[in-house]
Amino acid sequence: MSVDYAIEGDVAVLTINHPPVNALSLVVREGLKAGIQKGLADQNVRAIVVLGGGRTFIAGADISEFGTEKSRQGPRLQDIQRALETSPKPTVAAIHGTALGGGLEIALACHSRVAVASAKLGLPEVKLGLLPGAGGTVRTPRLIGVEAALSLVTSGDHIPAAKAHSLGLVDAIIDDLRSGGVAYARKLVAEGAPPPVIERNEKVTGVDPALFRDFREKTAKKSRGQLAPAKIIDCIEAACTKPAAEALAFETAAFQELFQSDQRKALIHYFFAEREARKIPDIPESVQPQKIGSVAVIGAGLMGGGIGMVFANAGIPVTLLDVSDEAVAKGRGIIEKNYATSVSRGSMTQARMDDALDRMRFVTKYEDIGPVDLVVEAAFEDMDLKKKIFTELDRVMPDKTILGSNTSSLNIDEIASATKRPDKVVGVHFFSPANVMKLQENVRGKATSHQTLADVMALAKDIGKVAVLAGNCDGFIGNRMLQYYTGEAEFMLEEGATPEQIDRVAESFGMAMGPLAMRDLAGMDTSVRIRAIRRKTLPPDERMTDIVERLVEAGRYGQKTGKGYYRYEGRTRIADPEAIAIIEDASRAAGVKRRAFTDEEVLYRLFFPMVNEAAKELEEGIAIRASDIDVVWVNGYGFPAHRGGPMFWAEQVGLDKVLDTSRELAPRRGVRWAPAKLLERLVAEGKGWSKA
Ligand code: COA
Repeated sequence: MSVDYAIEGDVAVLTINHPPVNALSLVVREGLKAGIQKGLADQNVRAIVVLGGGRTFIAGADISEFGTEKSRQGPRLQDIQRALETSPKPTVAAIHGTALGGGLEIALACHSRVAVASAKLGLPEVKLGLLPGAGGTVRTPRLIGVEAALSLVTSGDHIPAAKAHSLGLVDAIIDDLRSGGVAYARKLVAEGAPPPVIERNEKVTGVDPALFRDFREKTAKKSRGQLAPAKIIDCIEAACTKPAAEALAFETAAFQELFQSDQRKALIHYFFAEREARKIPDIPESVQPQKIGSVAVIGAGLMGGGIGMVFANAGIPVTLLDVSDEAVAKGRGIIEKNYATSVSRGSMTQARMDDALDRMRFVTKYEDIGPVDLVVEAAFEDMDLKKKIFTELDRVMPDKTILGSNTSSLNIDEIASATKRPDKVVGVHFFSPANVMKLQENVRGKATSHQTLADVMALAKDIGKVAVLAGNCDGFIGNRMLQYYTGEAEFMLEEGATPEQIDRVAESFGMAMGPLAMRDLAGMDTSVRIRAIRRKTLPPDERMTDIVERLVEAGRYGQKTGKGYYRYEGRTRIADPEAIAIIEDASRAAGVKRRAFTDEEVLYRLFFPMVNEAAKELEEGIAIRASDIDVVWVNGYGFPAHRGGPMFWAEQVGLDKVLDTSRELAPRRGVRWAPAKLLERLVAEGKGWSKA
């Protein structure tokens, strides 16, 4: 039975048993309806408690049922809510694990909510391009006030029980789920008061309209073109200005509109993509991940320090090694400063900062690292240096220790060859700043064992990262594609587009930052060094523009010198005719005739060549599935999740268009830009990535 019905004295307890997360699938909705009816009909029952069996309360609507026949069958969520809300017998939701989305909305229709201390509550629909469509936007402002509701629903955050209690979202914190829920229900019976119905609350009258205006402005900046946050604000405003029944109808209409949107489809694709990426088809079930409980990081610089913070924040003790006392002191100083900034911004408490620092040790000798489960090497991108480090690590570390490299492009097999344990060598590539960016691109060498892979894939969840497995090639999944993105941005500059146009198109598409503004931020002097190396290995039929070199020659290093592709006033970028003149010189010198670009052309040329390259990664098995590539770009490169990732988006736009762009560019750019065979085949057969 998906919902178990039991009697405890005079209280009916409905327990939902629908693993893994008690989503509100058809069977659960049917079971809840039947259970409530039974409780209402039973003369001996004086109250009803709803709780979740297994690890959680209810994680929301069943996302896999969206748009299917099943979602339209049986009782609607609203029918169940109505039954709970209008019940003459008190109804109580007893919450553990997570009460999310429709799950929290069920709880909000109960007369009271109690939760164990470890529970979390939230309305995460915004992350799926939706809004809570079963009264969430109407009941939350009535229960916890407008400001708290706006922030809860537009952020989609899962808030801890204690905070939910202080907001009034739950009525009491209980020790034991079942007995606590039953006791609370009995208390309500004993009090004999009419059951509280949130919809009847008047808490939302007299709200200053300026509140909504300000919140809209703030949210628009953050949400980079997403539709759902703005709709949520509209609904909460409606909840404050209209009677509950009208506000509910308004919410339903807004929900339907979002449900039809491409953004919803993209975000749901993305939700499953992230979970799918954890699964490595050839790892047998007998290989169970082992917990990584202690870590060392080689290199305490910007990257190593950031990686160290990731582990320390997750409660994992970490030892950082650098070459000298000075290097260690410098690294430690940067880490402390980073933490102090978080504390001053209020995103971290002083106590958490102290705890994290307590978990960090700094050493200068390999012998002093001591036995750890995993080492992450984060030294410079220099093969000889890395091999030396790995030989050293292989010597001092116990046999069981996994040796990971944070390299962003070097050959993992060659690094592994410096050790006697290539089965335990793996790429563990974090993105800068490591303590912020979510992606952990794990790289599989030819000898990496299943156990090693399982361990580092599972590690990601413990440290709050999103893992994707890549094969071993230059640049792995993400950086291999990046070359085409930034490369084409430059070629467009040379052909007549302006930095503002390119960055504007990328940013209005939803990228966190346009490619040129990004390079200005990173500093072009570093690019020049890397580009000099790349030029040497460039295939004979390819060329690079020399715009970056010309800008650097003119002292335009990017933000740090106040000018690059743009000029800067503080952090504000301003179009600069001087930069344009340098770019025009570069076009003339290269013999390229400048012309105007449409925004659509800019968009396609930025993303299609890299999607073509990604198709080659799929062909070669560098990426296991197209959706893994989406996960890499959303978490490592600021690609908007509401576009689903580059592969999902390209398929929506049409793979034939990707192919056309590749065919057009290849003769000018070189053979590496030629269409991927896979792409040609899919277009010829009229198929998408999943049918590849
Ligand atoms: N509907 C359908 N399936 C769901 C689901 C939902 N609402 N929530 C989770 N699942 C599935 C996942 O796809 C996964 O399936 P898999 O094992 O086949 O890959 C499984 O349940 C476990 O989920 P996972 O995310 O891996 O577990 P977790 O413990 O890390 O996180 C949650 C659990 C509930 C916090 C997380 O799954 C979540 O945020 N779910 C979505 C909640 C939501 O958005 N609800 C509103 C819906 S409108």
